[in-house]
Amino acid sequence: MLKLDLSKLSGFIPEDYLTSREDRLSKAAQMLAAHTGPGGDFTGWVTLPRDYDKEEFARIQAAAKKIQSQSQVLVVIGIGGSYLGARAVIELLLSQNYNLKKKDTPDIFFAGNGLSTDALLELIELIGDRDFSVNIISKSGTTTEPAVAFRIFKTMLEEKYGRDGARERIYATTDKARGALKGLADAEGYEEFVVPDAVGGRYSVLTAVGLLPIAVAGVDIKALMEGACQAMEELSVPGLDNPAWQYAAARHALYQAGKRVEILAGYEPRFRFFAEWWKQLYGESEGKDGKGLFPASVEFTADLHSMGQYIQEGERLMAETVVKFEPDGQFIIPDDPANVDGLNFLSGKPMAFVAEQAMRGTILAHVDGGVPNVLLELPKISESSVGFLIYFFEYVCGLSGHLLEVNPFDQPGVEAYKKNMFALLGKPGYEELRAELLAKL
Ligand code: PA5
Repeated sequence: MLKLDLSKLSGFIPEDYLTSREDRLSKAAQMLAAHTGPGGDFTGWVTLPRDYDKEEFARIQAAAKKIQSQSQVLVVIGIGGSYLGARAVIELLLSQNYNLKKKDTPDIFFAGNGLSTDALLELIELIGDRDFSVNIISKSGTTTEPAVAFRIFKTMLEEKYGRDGARERIYATTDKARGALKGLADAEGYEEFVVPDAVGGRYSVLTAVGLLPIAVAGVDIKALMEGACQAMEELSVPGLDNPAWQYAAARHALYQAGKRVEILAGYEPRFRFFAEWWKQLYGESEGKDGKGLFPASVEFTADLHSMGQYIQEGERLMAETVVKFEPDGQFIIPDDPANVDGLNFLSGKPMAFVAEQAMRGTILAHVDGGVPNVLLELPKISESSVGFLIYFFEYVCGLSGHLLEVNPFDQPGVEAYKKNMFALLGKPGYEELRAELLAKL
């Protein structure tokens, strides 16, 4: 399913970069398989594509159908790992313009992923008087941004449909036992879905966290899981032929060779949010203990006319990973007898041919400019290729974190801003910190 080209790393990292890491890769793979090592309690995602809860999966499909029949809009409330995966998959599979398209599935809007008043007011305006449902997603059930948004949309639903009508339109995805959202969902009788204990937010796209919104958008979530399952089966085979081992070793070698940034480049505008998901996955998993490649993303060819200059000639601190899908549709460039633009040498050529040459030329230019390149080639964008890619990136991320000797499954750094925000907001229990911070402001 996936073709990995590492040939453009030659000269940037030692030739034995893979064999010299064989023992460490083997240990890392064993830890992931046995759910041991740093963060081992949060490696439920490793076997998820095969071992997912089939009863809940059927409920997700049924709930998606109900939402499709009841509502013209679904508001998905969540932040970070409780938001990015669903948006990434919906946009990659169905288009970044999904809401603008003519379709028989609801518009999907994302809320609670920030604290912008303008964005909130605009969303309320966009919903207008249309029928809507809400999927509130929060593993902890206490995250401020989604909790505030849920208050607002829950009130709107209750005003529009009454309390009984509202509870028919609210779907809560949260911890199976703990947290404020769990308590509220139990008390109100919302339909509930579970974020499994052993799956952290950024690895949760293939749980109800991602699957319910994705199914509402009309995606075949069974095929998505099958693509991920194929990746799980292929990548669990230990050895130096394993593309996940190869890519993880390459990333680690690049880091040790002094690279500090990994840019993920896509050539499809609909890939943009997938790159956002990828940035969270790698940023939260590796960026700790003063270590880690900084994950950045670019959309080519648009960004070749903005970030292209820096990539080609700026500080030599980056490596690039390009994700290329086989093109689907076809568009032939028309002939123009006047040829005023001088482009008739392209007449009759498919647009995809031009894009391919742009990609090949860019890779060669970047490599010549000191930016090592990894190329990931996949078949056409489909449920199965996207499911495969999700799992591939997750698995490489787990291996990479272990090679880097960090815990790839915690995110202690995320707490720092929350504590300060709570203190400044005057949350009970934060009085001492509040006084400290006010003195600094
Ligand atoms: O990856 C993570 O764990 C985080 O990004 C969380 O998903 C994010 O902070 C949201 O947390 P919660 O689902 O508890 O509201």
